[in-house]
Amino acid sequence: MDRWIFPVLLFIPLCLGLLQNQDNQVFEPRNLRIYSNNSLQQLLLEWDVSDDSEAYNSKIEIVFNIQIRLREEDKRIILNVNYTTVLNKSRQHHQWSFISEVPLQCATHEARIRSRMTSSKIWSNWTDWVAANGPDALSNEKNHIFPEEKVFERGSNITFCCIAKKNKIVATYTFYKEHNKTNQQRIFFTRKPDSSFPRRFQLTCGFNGSINPSQTYLYLNRQPDKPQHLSCETEDMINIRCTWNPGCVEKTDYFEEVCPMEFILSDVSSTKIYCSTKFQKSCSFKRDDQFLYNVRLTSRNCLGQKHEQLSFNVMHTVRPVIIGKPSVDHLNATFIQLSWQIKSINASLSFLCQINVGENKYNITAQSDSDSHFHFQLGGLQPATNYMFKVRCAADVSPFWKWSSWTESISAETTEAAPSGLLDVWRHINSGLKQRNVTVFWRESSDFRANGKIQKYHLSWENLEDPSMQRHNDSVSASQNYRKISLGNRSYKILVWAQNSISTSSPSVIIIPASDKNGKVHYSEETTDNNEEHKIYISWKRQSKFSQYIVDWCNQPIGPLCDFQWKKYGQIKSSDLITSDAFKRGVRYTFNVYGIQDDRSYLLEKKAKYLEEMEPPDYLSCNIEEITANSLRVTWERYDQKFSSGFIRGYMLYMKMDNQSCSVQGSQPLIRPGNLTICSYKIEKPNQTEFTVRHLKPNRKYFFALQAYAVNPNYTDNVIFKSVITPDDEKWLFNLLYLLLIIPLILMCMCSRKSSRVRNCLCPAIPQPKVTPFFKMSLGITEINDMIPNQLVMLEKPQEFSPKQSTLGILLENMSYSQSTYYPEVQIEERTDQKFNSGVTSYKPLQDFGFTSSPNPCTPEAPLYSKDNLNYLYQTEVLPSMIQGTDSSCSVHWLDYRPQCSTTSRRNTDY
Ligand SMILES: *[C@@H]1O[C@H](CO)[C@@H](O)[C@H](O)[C@H]1NC(C)=O
Ligand SMILES: *[C@@H]1O[C@H](CO)[C@@H](O)[C@H](O)[C@H]1NC(C)=O
Ligand SMILES: *[C@@H]1O[C@H](CO)[C@@H](O)[C@H](O)[C@H]1NC(C)=O
Ligand SMILES: *[C@@H]1O[C@H](CO)[C@@H](O)[C@H](O)[C@H]1NC(C)=O
Ligand SMILES: *[C@@H]1O[C@H](CO)[C@@H](O)[C@H](O)[C@H]1NC(C)=O
Ligand SMILES: *[C@@H]1O[C@H](CO)[C@@H](O)[C@H](O)[C@H]1NC(C)=O
Ligand SMILES: *[C@@H]1O[C@H](CO)[C@@H](O)[C@H](O)[C@H]1NC(C)=O
Ligand SMILES: *[C@@H]1O[C@H](CO)[C@@H](O)[C@H](O)[C@H]1NC(C)=O
Repeated sequence: MDRWIFPVLLFIPLCLGLLQNQDNQVFEPRNLRIYSNNSLQQLLLEWDVSDDSEAYNSKIEIVFNIQIRLREEDKRIILNVNYTTVLNKSRQHHQWSFISEVPLQCATHEARIRSRMTSSKIWSNWTDWVAANGPDALSNEKNHIFPEEKVFERGSNITFCCIAKKNKIVATYTFYKEHNKTNQQRIFFTRKPDSSFPRRFQLTCGFNGSINPSQTYLYLNRQPDKPQHLSCETEDMINIRCTWNPGCVEKTDYFEEVCPMEFILSDVSSTKIYCSTKFQKSCSFKRDDQFLYNVRLTSRNCLGQKHEQLSFNVMHTVRPVIIGKPSVDHLNATFIQLSWQIKSINASLSFLCQINVGENKYNITAQSDSDSHFHFQLGGLQPATNYMFKVRCAADVSPFWKWSSWTESISAETTEAAPSGLLDVWRHINSGLKQRNVTVFWRESSDFRANGKIQKYHLSWENLEDPSMQRHNDSVSASQNYRKISLGNRSYKILVWAQNSISTSSPSVIIIPASDKNGKVHYSEETTDNNEEHKIYISWKRQSKFSQYIVDWCNQPIGPLCDFQWKKYGQIKSSDLITSDAFKRGVRYTFNVYGIQDDRSYLLEKKAKYLEEMEPPDYLSCNIEEITANSLRVTWERYDQKFSSGFIRGYMLYMKMDNQSCSVQGSQPLIRPGNLTICSYKIEKPNQTEFTVRHLKPNRKYFFALQAYAVNPNYTDNVIFKSVITPDDEKWLFNLLYLLLIIPLILMCMCSRKSSRVRNCLCPAIPQPKVTPFFKMSLGITEINDMIPNQLVMLEKPQEFSPKQSTLGILLENMSYSQSTYYPEVQIEERTDQKFNSGVTSYKPLQDFGFTSSPNPCTPEAPLYSKDNLNYLYQTEVLPSMIQGTDSSCSVHWLDYRPQCSTTSRRNTDY
């Protein structure tokens, strides 16, 4: 047994050893040769593998490790690669090529190689370094510059060199913007151009001894992008056209030369090229009999290439083409027939077409007739309207492919038809005594269609109450929208209609009611509530019997052109915001509201309105009268009829005191800047013209200003006030005494000195005066009239002020006064006597002076005072001290306060 086993045991390690030996076998590369192709910058390495081993018969995978170094660059290894290939008996000769970044002429490329079976870990010995032709192979009789006219990919390194001829040096070089000086026979650089480099730039080397530097252009380009959106279609099933987006292509003339871009459309295996093109986005080819295509598009340039693929069925990518424009075959007022033609297609297909008519789109499916013509009939058009038509078509396939492009638009105008709908008619009536001037206006209502060009408007009117009256007809040109007609006071029916070249519209009817002299229409002045910008709010009372309401107004109420406007409303409307850009603030507009019942109109309301009311700009001038110690009366002229920019709703009377706050019973306080209160009285009656201010204090100075207001009284501080001083209470009594005692005395003296004629007149037998204390003074004159003439009325100083109590001023206004020459002395004396610092009143029974209500035979030349009520004569002088401080324009009125300025007295003075 052992004898058996031993040799077997011995054999196993031997076999293992043999196996191991085969694993460790090395195939030493031999006979390495190196060739350089300078134009391609390519190194070709060739070598053999030793075949001294008999150990292999099958294929062996082997790795060659290849190293390349640059001799002149410190033997720097620029490449170390593994090249794996299969080795067998018949293939022992190997090649490998390499394109160097370093120009082969710039540095001597040396290569060596070793090998290893992929299954083994043991490398063969390196071969010796074998050198390719480098600079040494160049002629040393001339200067060199490398590379020349070469395209680089952006972002890659560029290695360049300059080599001077024998015994010369490279003096300078320029690499785009980099300049330098050198003193070497050969320079060698690697640079990486950044993004600031242009697509083409210069490399220059200056050699000493040479006048001109050597120079060359270098180019920076990109690899082609992968083409996108590759798409193929046909218009006729004969030619197929493919389009794509080429991506970014550096388009320059010099790239067309040095690194042209090319697009190649082929089948997927690139065996059959359909078409190719340079720098373009499409190419076409003739269809062969197949329908299914599987195409590849290759984009390439000198730096690389990219691919895109597409499969399509040409039947599903038919895009028809419409030849020319559609045409109109038949046309009338409402109907049109369109025709168009597509380029003929070498297949039986049905089509989907879209027609644009103005804003509307119509879809139709159609089978073209034999000559690829299509016809489409469209009805329901508007007469006399210009329509624009355009068409596009697509093959009716699923999935939908693409529309053809739209044809050019063509326009066609339908013919005219009779006008349809009714004109909107309204009228404006100017009533005279016998005649009414009626202006009939019309315009196109929303449902009216001219259906052509309106040539004329026709009117006809007839008296409804008197059928015997002739019916009137008239027509006006199309440019006019109104007609003035003169009508009597009866009711009339007016018809208006339009006419174009075909026919006329139906007439619109309005009935002018008989003029109603007693008709009372509610007239209102209304607020600006609910108005908006350019809009005036109108509301009216609805009545069930009316089917329509009409509001009319003038946009330009001031000025000769009224710009008449009207607006119609349905039965349920009872208000509107009337909009007009013509509305201006401060202008009074009058709106008439009519109800319509069976073509008859009834004026319901008249409204005066403003868009916005304005306030009177100025303060009013006023008179101040009847000044007593405690009250006075302010009068003014009515302002509400003078002012038209708003409705005057009342007046504001402002009263203030000198550097003192005003607080008077019955007034409203008003704080003004400076914190002094002024008093104000709001008089809320536009027709009021007087106001009595009470609760004043004697011997005080008051200032007054008056303002009319429309909506909001607006006190402004720059107003000029009129000042008044209330008289002193005690002086008043003193003056009264003075009048009662002194003046009669003076007069008596005067009388005694006058001529006998005068004396006869002036000094008749004087009736015994009856002195009646005059306690109850009234505002009116009637109470005085009631008194018996020849009575001396004694004015008592009122004990207390009450509204009923009269003041001297009130009496003065209602009485007359004569600036008579009978007692000039008195006047002079009174005026010059400055000591009297209060008003002086004189009075006398008028009969004493010969004044009677009937002519007096005794005094034929004497002035005749016929005024019935002139029974008493008063005279009041205002002393200068009272006038002080009346610096305003109102100062004149202080003098007016003299009774002789009252109207009646002036009239009398004319005698
Ligand atoms: C070549 O192959 C060896 C061993 O397989 C590995 O160590 C080396 O890195 C490779 N060299 C290159 C450049 O791939
Ligand atoms: C490599 O070369 C050395 C001597 O130069 C030699 O001794 C060795 O055997 C060689 N190796 C192989 C695997 O041929
Ligand atoms: C360019 O050269 C530099 C150094 O010479 C090197 O570090 C870099 O990797 C190179 N770049 C490319 C893209 O070859
Ligand atoms: C220019 O050349 C000098 C010497 O030849 C060198 O020191 C310098 O770095 C160079 N400049 C550039 C920008 O290469
Ligand atoms: C327009 O022409 C079409 C087709 O001929 C016809 O049917 C239609 O009645 C015509 N319409 C008018 C308004 O003439
Ligand atoms: C017409 O056809 C197109 C495509 O099928 C569709 O998108 C469009 O809505 C259709 N228009 C009308 C008006 O039918
Ligand atoms: C009506 O018109 C006539 C002529 O234009 C004119 O004289 C007359 O004053 C007008 N009557 C009224 C009431 O406007
Ligand atoms: C008015 O009164 C306010 C506060 O009541 C005060 O601050 C202001 O100084 C006063 N102005 C004048 C001018 O008195």
